[in-house]
Amino acid sequence: MTDRVKQMRAAGQHVIGLATGTPDFDTPAYIKAAGKAALDEDGTYITYTVSAGLPELREAIAVKLARENGIVTSADGVVVTVGVKEGIFVAAQACFNAGDEVLIPTPTWVTYDACFVLAGAVPVHVPTYAEGGFRVDPAALAARITPRTRAIMLNSPGNPAGAVLGLDTLEAIAELAQRHDLLVLSDEIYERMVFGSARHVSIASLPGMVERTLTFNGFSKAYAMTGWRVGYVTGPKHVLRNMLKIHGHSVTCACAFAQKAAAAALNGPQQDLEQYILILEQRRAQLVAGLNSIPGVRCSVPDGGIFCFPDISALGMTDQECSAFFLEHARVSTLPGSAFGPGGEGHLRINFARRHASDIDAAIARMRTARAVR
Ligand SMILES: Cc1ncc(COP(=O)(O)O)c(C=O)c1O
Repeated sequence: MTDRVKQMRAAGQHVIGLATGTPDFDTPAYIKAAGKAALDEDGTYITYTVSAGLPELREAIAVKLARENGIVTSADGVVVTVGVKEGIFVAAQACFNAGDEVLIPTPTWVTYDACFVLAGAVPVHVPTYAEGGFRVDPAALAARITPRTRAIMLNSPGNPAGAVLGLDTLEAIAELAQRHDLLVLSDEIYERMVFGSARHVSIASLPGMVERTLTFNGFSKAYAMTGWRVGYVTGPKHVLRNMLKIHGHSVTCACAFAQKAAAAALNGPQQDLEQYILILEQRRAQLVAGLNSIPGVRCSVPDGGIFCFPDISALGMTDQECSAFFLEHARVSTLPGSAFGPGGEGHLRINFARRHASDIDAAIARMRTARAVR
């Protein structure tokens, strides 16, 4: 898909790119300023930091986790990673042995499977469906538990379908994890993107869970900092100690001046973030309404995240064909839902985190026209 988009752009075609997971927003000015100032300081931030990350950033993260997530920890209970992605990779290497099974509700972010397989573990998919809002059913998770199951991977709000797990579901999953002595890996990178009455709850804040949960988060989505590569993980200290060995010997530390900027992101004014979430909520409504105006496309309103996940099965094409069709005939890039695993078939993933409302209007107009002449 990416190659084809590049090819089309090189040939002078104007493609509206709604396929990636990148927010089309700028990093707030105060965060950039902190990064630039760090580069010009006395040399501290152009060298390695301690592997676990700058103490001032870990301190700010610990304060944030207590205040916003109900996770009580200290700076030494946090490891700063090169994005959530490195955190998940390192966790898999540290926690799993060959043949260990990890339950993953699908459709889901494809990196989890890759990280677990690279660690020798076996991803066990637990499909979710549109009828249930793509929220995992704890009974379906329970049905896949075997003597080899070691962990449950959660991502709420979720990529690609925007499902937000409610307290009841999280409590049921917590009970399962405790009964079967499982670790929970909770990727909360979209925690700020919850809309309407949906609320984000960190599973580690539930009774008995802090000692068996690794909570991952980062700056890529909330502060539009995908290229700065800063994330973090908190969890049981004996697990973090093992993760630190792998992190230290593979990447040493996250980029020093980016860590300084990340500390500024947490400690600075949050108005930009609030404004950004309001814009996202408008773009979400705009994209949902636009998609529903295309005959044969049905889009429910995602509770969170930055993607719509419309059902396109009534168009008489597979999701791969449909994604290719809109790219060729509407010059709009999307991703086929089946790429995200079982349950995603017949859907497209479409990013609504666009700075300009006009991009979404133009994309919808082009898709409607392409559909009409098909
Ligand atoms: C669910 C999820 N987790 C993590 C990431 C990547 O996060 P980071 O940039 O912090 O590595 C993404 C990016 O698309 C994502 O969708």
